[in-house]
Amino acid sequence: MYSEKVMDHFQNPRNMGEIEDASGVGTVGNAKCGDIMRMYLDIDENGIIQEAKFKTFGCGAAVATSSMATELVKGKTIQEALEVTNRAVMEALDGLPPVKVHCSLLAEEAIHAALWDYAEKAGIVIEGLKKPKADIHDEEEEQY
Ligand code: FES
Repeated sequence: MYSEKVMDHFQNPRNMGEIEDASGVGTVGNAKCGDIMRMYLDIDENGIIQEAKFKTFGCGAAVATSSMATELVKGKTIQEALEVTNRAVMEALDGLPPVKVHCSLLAEEAIHAALWDYAEKAGIVIEGLKKPKADIHDEEEEQY
């Protein structure tokens, strides 16, 4: 049912934990399944994501997608990080079962929420970034 990569990132999650004084912190949840994901980003003065960590209270796929999402955004610019969509995370994990697609949406939205927080703190506008939803359930219903 799950790819080897999903199992690996679930059993050995990368970048689990939190960043003290993070540049941006984003928390999103899905009211339907009750899962919650928090993403921490450390962004340097050149707009490069130096560090990414996460805390996820959720299912195995949510842990695996959080882990992969942090790996994918590390070292990237903010604009590049915006391209780390839930599909990109799923592809990097060699796919997810259809009922678990929403878990990857949580990862995408958590990145956006952390970037939004960073932009607010830094007083900047990130082009192409929409205000994230605290609960992704509504959006998910529209998309899938
Ligand atoms: Fe909801 Fe995985 S079951 S995030």
